[in-house]
Amino acid sequence: MSAQPPATAGTSAARQLPDSARARDAGLTIGPLRRSDLDAVLQLDGRLTGQYKPAYWKARFTEFVTTGRPRGRLGLAARHVLGHLHGYLLGEVRAFEFGSPPCGWIFAVGVDPDQAHHGIGSALVAEAARRFRSAGVATVRTMVGRTDVSMLAFFRSNGFVGGRFTQLELDLPQAADPPERPLRASDPGGRR
Ligand SMILES: CC(C)(COP(=O)(O)OP(=O)(O)OC[C@H]1O[C@@H](n2cnc3c(N)ncnc32)[C@H](O)[C@@H]1OP(=O)(O)O)[C@@H](O)C(=O)NCCC(=O)NCCS
Repeated sequence: MSAQPPATAGTSAARQLPDSARARDAGLTIGPLRRSDLDAVLQLDGRLTGQYKPAYWKARFTEFVTTGRPRGRLGLAARHVLGHLHGYLLGEVRAFEFGSPPCGWIFAVGVDPDQAHHGIGSALVAEAARRFRSAGVATVRTMVGRTDVSMLAFFRSNGFVGGRFTQLELDLPQAADPPERPLRASDPGGRR
């Protein structure tokens, strides 16, 4: 993208306030994604991840952007006053999964690499946290690759720390067949 960095971007005073007000001062607004952002998000995500996923993003926009933004779902855009999309964030309140009380999940965040380190990602996360708080949840979670140093540093700089849950996974092609175990059940009448 060709837009210049926001005027106040990168100053140490500006970095202390990664919120919507600071973004506004920098010529950015943090607000809802619009249907018309689909192509910009698709392109930006493709640039960041090296994978273009039109079907995935079309489905996400149907869920998060085009259906009146159902309660608990967040689709946020960081938009320059000139209209360029500089960043996006998707999140959702999810309840009672993994034995957890309702919490906010951030499952996608991306910032135009030409605009990196100007506080845009932090402003998106701060706005998501504000909206999750007003939806009544007390915790925000995300998942980051264990070796993804930049994402780890980004979330840590926004106050995230290791949580109370540990992610576990099973590599199916590598997994040995589980040993046969006899299935046992006792019936409520006490007979075996
Ligand atoms: C990580 C990302 C969101 C950061 O966005 P950003 O607008 O540059 O972040 P901020 O300016 O708010 O950064 C805040 C702090 O986070 C840390 N940080 C951000 N990017 C970092 C990086 N690449 N390496 C190390 N630390 C980083 C720094 O401490 C930074 O403060 P500083 O700029 O004063 O050093 C952005 O680089 C990005 O989109 N990366 C790709 C993510 C991706 O693949 N998304 C698609 C799938 S989910």
